[in-house]
Amino acid sequence: MVSKKSRSPFSFSKMVAAKFVTIFILMELIMRGFRFGAVDGLSMDYYIMTCPLADIIVKNTVNSALQNDPTLAAALVRMHFHDCFIEGCDGSILIDSTKDNTAEKDSPGNLSLRGYEIIDDAKEQLEQQCPGVVSCADIVAMASRDAVFWSGGPVYDIPKGRKDGRRSRIEDTINLPFPTFNASELIRAFGQRGFTAQEMVALSGAHTLGVARCSSFKGRLGNGDPTLDSDFAKTLSKTCSAGDNAEQPFDATRNTFDNLYYYTLLTKNGLLFSDQTLYGSPRTRSIVNAYAMNQAMFFFDFQQAMVKMGMLNVKEGSKGEVRGNCRKIN
Ligand code: HEM
Repeated sequence: MVSKKSRSPFSFSKMVAAKFVTIFILMELIMRGFRFGAVDGLSMDYYIMTCPLADIIVKNTVNSALQNDPTLAAALVRMHFHDCFIEGCDGSILIDSTKDNTAEKDSPGNLSLRGYEIIDDAKEQLEQQCPGVVSCADIVAMASRDAVFWSGGPVYDIPKGRKDGRRSRIEDTINLPFPTFNASELIRAFGQRGFTAQEMVALSGAHTLGVARCSSFKGRLGNGDPTLDSDFAKTLSKTCSAGDNAEQPFDATRNTFDNLYYYTLLTKNGLLFSDQTLYGSPRTRSIVNAYAMNQAMFFFDFQQAMVKMGMLNVKEGSKGEVRGNCRKIN
């Protein structure tokens, strides 16, 4: 019989080490459960065996495109949002119209989307490396993540394994939120997709990047909108004197991902009505204040909400396909 006392210190330390390993494995499993529980089948390392360079190919393609034109970072982030909100994150935004079908991308709300050629470029390289493996929906999600980081935002990983959808119809885009929405309408629109008001405010922070065209905000001018700073209204009128397509940045740092967007809302300098209403409404004002004061908090919430957005109604298995060309259903 081996008494407790006769156990060597070596076997005791082995026992302690084994316990640590068990605890570590359990914690890892629990964390994975939290991270991936929402959608079975998606995982961070989805392409590890079938296309291990997938992430790197997308990242390099995005980085070199943004080096040439930094304004495309905004376009890639917006593209992912417009993809996910209509028919789920399934690459439906990338489909070209045909003679029998007018696709999502040709709806008025999508006409100013850009950056499709970056997705095509990444797809071409991926098809050479590992044909028929990486979905267009995953490329859009990865490109958006890389654009956020490239412009100074948070670094985060995303689960992959989305399949591409086979439907892209102009009429579905009626479900995109309008820039004329008030806070209650925004809360409802995002709530219908499972987001809290705080997540909606965090996602709206994507407007730290990019521009809106006059047609998206001119309705606020000339009617004495009390939520619009009077000097800023003059600036907007001047922008609009160049026509409906004239662009106005959301904040002073249009290519940098920071929390300046929220700060503009505190001073009635929000560009869209749907931006300024987030400060106007008591239901969201404290969140805007918090993000304006604390960029780290905004970054953390934004990355969590983006991962969640990237899981919206994803298609798995036979519910979708991996397109050979992102612009066409197979
Ligand atoms: C909260 C509801 C939202 C509304 C009503 C809204 C509306 C708009 C509008 C009207 C524009 C300008 C389009 C134009 O004039 O050409 C725009 C631009 C943009 N939106 Fe949103 N948006 C919303 C949420 C989001 C979300 C959740 C994201 C991403 C996570 C996003 C990302 C962007 C970006 C990056 C741009 C600038 C695009 C560029 O410069 O090319 N938006 N949005």
